[in-house]
Amino acid sequence: MPEVLRLERITKKYHLRGGFFGREGRTFYALKDINLSLAADEILGVLGESGCGKSTLAKVALGLEWPEEGRVLIDGQDFWTLSQKERQKLRQKIQIVFQDPYASLNPRKKVYDLLAEPLIIHKLCPASAIRDRVVAMLEKVGLSETDLAKYPHQFSGGQRQRIALARALILSPKALVLDEPTSALDVSVQAQILELLLHFKKNLKLAYLFISHDLPLVLFLSNRVVVMYLGRIVELCPSQNFYQVPHHPYTEMLLESVPEPDPERRKKRKKIYGEPPDPAKIKTGCAFFNRCPEAVSLCKEKEPPLKKIAAGHAIACHRR
Ligand SMILES: Nc1ncnc2c1ncn2[C@@H]1O[C@H](COP(=O)(O)OP(=O)(O)OP(=O)(O)O)[C@@H](O)[C@H]1O
Ligand SMILES: [Mg+2]
Repeated sequence: MPEVLRLERITKKYHLRGGFFGREGRTFYALKDINLSLAADEILGVLGESGCGKSTLAKVALGLEWPEEGRVLIDGQDFWTLSQKERQKLRQKIQIVFQDPYASLNPRKKVYDLLAEPLIIHKLCPASAIRDRVVAMLEKVGLSETDLAKYPHQFSGGQRQRIALARALILSPKALVLDEPTSALDVSVQAQILELLLHFKKNLKLAYLFISHDLPLVLFLSNRVVVMYLGRIVELCPSQNFYQVPHHPYTEMLLESVPEPDPERRKKRKKIYGEPPDPAKIKTGCAFFNRCPEAVSLCKEKEPPLKKIAAGHAIACHRR
């Protein structure tokens, strides 16, 4: 399968937020040495706690954030070596749907304008054909022509997410980055949106980078899963057999935190250790060191590389 997206040795640093003057001058790795590829027709899940860099990864993948180090290849083209015009064109191929359609859709624009805008910006179809194309796309996501003149606030959360999806798909991309696309929605609505996503995946032969902190959901949808911790990839694992194979201690911790209805099995669970540390304080060693029940002195001294332990399965841990 050809790749639609490839991230090579990506590093992105941010200044720490907060502090008396807004910035303390300290930096941390929002992404550190990230290597990742997304095959056409694949769903790759990205899993990790709040603040681990999932949205930063999404922004880098879309060419919205410039990484200090590494290469971003979109559909085989090295994004940051291109001219601005070429980059703009390449951006069509990978689109995003955000978690919160309230924030991602301009409240002052009517549905027609929200969907026509990408076509106009990218000069993708003659002016006379725009309306037909907008209506056709709207119908594909389960809305209709009568919705064209409405504003985002006139829709429910689920309908708004359908509009966001239509806006992303109207450019006929090869891949979508889905950044927690259903976590702001009610469970019943969540299921409808997921069904729609799977429908488009199959019919339009799309690849998805599916970002979520919901482990069961990610496993259900994805072919492979990437587990992130403080800007690092700590594990890459095929979703099949996920419950049967050994994992990074952090992934094990995520597995432990999935609600377990069986009280007997619940009793056998290990406890969850602490919170992520201040990312700026990690200088050497494994980023998970202070929370890891299996840490030894080597873990404090040397950052473990991601190493292959089975076909398609890699773990960054000295103890695995
Ligand atoms: N523009 C920025 N400047 C400084 N720090 C930032 C910036 N954007 C994000 N961060 C910080 O980088 C880290 C990673 O943020 P990111 O939004 O990628 O996390 P996330 O995994 O998407 O979290 P969540 O699950 O809460 O959405 C966080 O500590 C965040 O506060
Ligand atoms: Mg995020």
